[in-house]
Amino acid sequence: MRVGILGSGLMGAKLGTIWARAGHEVVFSYARSEQKLQKLARDAKGNARAGTPREAAAEADALLLAVHWSRVDDVLAQAGDVAGKVVLSCSLPMNSDDTALVVGQTSSGAEELAKKIPTARVVAAFNTVPSEVLFDVYAGRRKASRPSLVYCGDDRRAKTTAARLIRDVGFEPLDSGPLRIARYTEPFGLLVAQLAYERKGGPRLAYTFQRLKS
Ligand SMILES: NC(=O)c1ccc[n+]([C@@H]2O[C@H](COP(=O)([O-])OP(=O)(O)OC[C@H]3O[C@@H](n4cnc5c(N)ncnc54)[C@H](OP(=O)(O)O)[C@@H]3O)[C@@H](O)[C@H]2O)c1
Repeated sequence: MRVGILGSGLMGAKLGTIWARAGHEVVFSYARSEQKLQKLARDAKGNARAGTPREAAAEADALLLAVHWSRVDDVLAQAGDVAGKVVLSCSLPMNSDDTALVVGQTSSGAEELAKKIPTARVVAAFNTVPSEVLFDVYAGRRKASRPSLVYCGDDRRAKTTAARLIRDVGFEPLDSGPLRIARYTEPFGLLVAQLAYERKGGPRLAYTFQRLKS
């Protein structure tokens, strides 16, 4: 798959690197330094290059939106036409000092994003795990028991693409339903962040859901 990374920070850099190593063609874009994007592409040691958001979007089968909520409009403007594109968003709708969600209960960041790009096919994914755990999960991808990753969206084919990319990182994708379910997954992302960054044990934290059979 051709995967465009819109926002090459903690999440975008790691996920792009993993997808390049997993065999996808990756374009890293949107950082404050072109050198950083080029270094990421070199270090990924796969089929990766640096580009502009427009270049990342142009040929992409899937785009990862991984910017702070305050940068969403800017990166989308730079990306240009995303009609028909699968847009995986890990972006949480946080305030400027990252202490609270600015959208919730009656909507979600993912739904507000979908309103901004109504012809794209938005899937909310990777918003419930800390970046620090991603390489560990990738390293353990062949283990029998994989951590879960919840995702949601309204477009069936886009969700199939998302599930494949989630699986390639090493998670077991857990389809949690339509995009409005992001109203629940986004606060859950903050719970995971609380456990990762404010409680003992460190941020290399993932989760698994189990269905118990009687
Ligand atoms: N970090 C996590 O563990 C985590 C987990 C779940 C969800 N999320 C969500 O995922 C999203 C991304 O988080 P993140 O931690 O990856 O953020 P981040 O590390 O701050 O990365 C954001 C990217 O946007 C770029 N950027 C910011 N301002 C820019 C500007 N004016 N021009 C060009 N590029 C600019 C940054 O450039 P530089 O590279 O130059 O800084 C960076 O590459 C957020 O919405 C966050 O809430 C994060």
